[in-house]
Amino acid sequence: MEFCDRSPCGHLTLSDAGKEVTLAGWVDALRDHGEVLFIHLRDRSGIVQVVFTPESTPQTICARAGLLKSEFCILLSGRVVKRAEGTENPGISTGDLEVLAKDLTILNRADPLPFQISEKSMMAGAAVKREEAVAEDLRLQYRYLDLRRPRMQEHLIKRHRIVKAIRDTLDGRGFIEIETPMLTKSTPEGARDYLVPSRHYPRNFYALPQSPQLFKQLLMVGGMERYFQIVRCFRDEDLRPNRQPEFTQLDLEASFIDEEFIYSLLEELTARMFEIGGIRLPRHFPRMTWTEAMNSTGSDKPDLRFGLTFKDATDIFAGTKYGIFKQVLARGGCIKGMNVKGQSERLSKNVLQNEYAKEIVPGFGAKGMTWMRVVDGGLESNIVQFFSDSERNEILGRFEAEKGDVILMIADPSWSLVCSALGQLRLHLAERLDLIPADAFCPLWVTDFPLFEAAEKGVTSSHHPFTMPDRTDFDPENRDELLSLRSRAYDLVVNGEELGGGSIRINDRNLQNRIFKALGLSESEVEEKFGFFLRALEYGAPPHGGIALGIDRVVAMILGTSSIREVIAFPKNRSAFCPLTQAPSSVAVEQLAELGLLDLGGAQPFPGAKEQQDLIDSLSWVSRIRIEAQERPAIAAAIDDAKASAELINSRCGEEEPMFSVAPVANRTRRGTEPRVSRLAETGELLKNSPFTKGGYFKVASILE
Ligand code: AMO
Repeated sequence: MEFCDRSPCGHLTLSDAGKEVTLAGWVDALRDHGEVLFIHLRDRSGIVQVVFTPESTPQTICARAGLLKSEFCILLSGRVVKRAEGTENPGISTGDLEVLAKDLTILNRADPLPFQISEKSMMAGAAVKREEAVAEDLRLQYRYLDLRRPRMQEHLIKRHRIVKAIRDTLDGRGFIEIETPMLTKSTPEGARDYLVPSRHYPRNFYALPQSPQLFKQLLMVGGMERYFQIVRCFRDEDLRPNRQPEFTQLDLEASFIDEEFIYSLLEELTARMFEIGGIRLPRHFPRMTWTEAMNSTGSDKPDLRFGLTFKDATDIFAGTKYGIFKQVLARGGCIKGMNVKGQSERLSKNVLQNEYAKEIVPGFGAKGMTWMRVVDGGLESNIVQFFSDSERNEILGRFEAEKGDVILMIADPSWSLVCSALGQLRLHLAERLDLIPADAFCPLWVTDFPLFEAAEKGVTSSHHPFTMPDRTDFDPENRDELLSLRSRAYDLVVNGEELGGGSIRINDRNLQNRIFKALGLSESEVEEKFGFFLRALEYGAPPHGGIALGIDRVVAMILGTSSIREVIAFPKNRSAFCPLTQAPSSVAVEQLAELGLLDLGGAQPFPGAKEQQDLIDSLSWVSRIRIEAQERPAIAAAIDDAKASAELINSRCGEEEPMFSVAPVANRTRRGTEPRVSRLAETGELLKNSPFTKGGYFKVASILE
């Protein structure tokens, strides 16, 4: 048997019946019927059933087959035959044939598996096995086994096809792929940098790129005209469901273009990518300015798969007698609302008043919510009697209300609060009332973002500081004027998720300088951070612009996976940790010394240093566990004990090297084992002081996904 003669398991068809074939792969599943052994042999192409039977398999081979276990790696040869009628398995693509084994080599054995890999049933008619719920950290710890699952292989194969479609399309449009540095200087994208210490320049650091933004602009100055890159980006940001500390972008930039070029290119590209998942996107993508998006959906990434868009009702109540609205309007506020069409049966008075107005909507930041059900005689609610007849009529007209509808309104002095609270309510209702159609894809461009956002002192960039403003005659010291500027930026949004963002860039040094000034950067800071870049703008920098798409997000959306981790071969978990390699991990003291990092920070206090003046306060701060006054003596005694032991050990060390650890340490929480509940927890002793307990644990605020 030679590897070069190998046929892919999943490609066998009935036209191969009678042929001798060589196959290699892994034992997906086994069914032992005493004399006869059936196995599912799996390689990347699919699964085929192999039969070891005394009639067609030599006895030594049958004996060897008896040693097989799940996930053994094997090479075999045999004859393809049609399966007997009634024994076909429609759950696999080769379900109408099987291979009668002649020879078998066990290439490698496998230990008992930490979880089941096989996804296909061997029984005819029983198509798919029930999915075993495996803890994600365990899957990530044994990712090489998880990747053997056909579903995961499919994800990575599709990802490859999508990326290939990008490369082919962009190559066809004159773009060239160019690599930019990974060890570089900070590029501001609003997150923290991952830093890499330099051995040659002790106490100096490279930053891993948050994006290739500055380099792609320098490539335009360098005359490359059309650049792209499938590139890894690194951002140390707060953990959120659809974020990874390192992720992949399709990054592109072009010279002598405007927004229309980007829209048309990206629409073609996105449509091709989605086609690989069998999804047809509508063309052309609609466009909405940021203001329109906020006014009608309360979000800068509107989900357009369902209605529930907002109407402004401020003018209706200009002369109202209703106290709450009157006060809001006196403070320059606004009133907005939406019509939840035909849902009054599912939104009872009780649900509207006690759940939404009192609990849910205050959770979105609004002080309250006004609700009205549309009934035969007009409007019904707890406050409608305070509205005049004309106000009631205008509400009915403005919201195009009919019997059975429910109108919800939020009023507040802050326009952004009204938009944001109503936006969250919109999404909540869509989920609750099942208003989101399955398999719908609604792309759109959001444009004309504010250039700046208000910060505690002054302003910050909404996107990044290299974005072209809508006008250039602004005063960089006039905060109100800065906040009124719009940018030539655009986001590509699909189903309420931002898949990409970009802008037309500044190519004029003076304008770029004024933006830095508006951001409050001093001349020396600008020179230190961006001097190299500003110099480049002085040498005939062409007009240019570009965009970056989050590849992980795009692929996850096309494949409909529950998280972007499902489409990344080796992702970090929800806590930015890698259960497979255990990264991040500590490094040897020698390594730190070599990098000049041992006493880095010197006399500067670390966070929590104030608390460290008292050892018990310090312990409490580090462990985030409050220690009550009555617990302090016991803890003080335990600390004294520990100190005494440490001194004892120290005294025995003599002149030897100091000891860093007295026992091998293991992090038991990362092993994917069943959590154990302490007996003291069962008796209640351990948790007697904790404010909230559940099932032997104490509850803490949920901070992660
Ligand atoms: P931006 O910061 O908007 O733009 O990033 C572009 C796209 O990258 C994806 N993305 C992420 N995906 C996974 N995990 C993350 N932590 C993460 N952060 C961002 C999103 C996002 O839309 N230099 C600019 C682009 C430009 O102006 O051309 C940039 O990086 O899908």
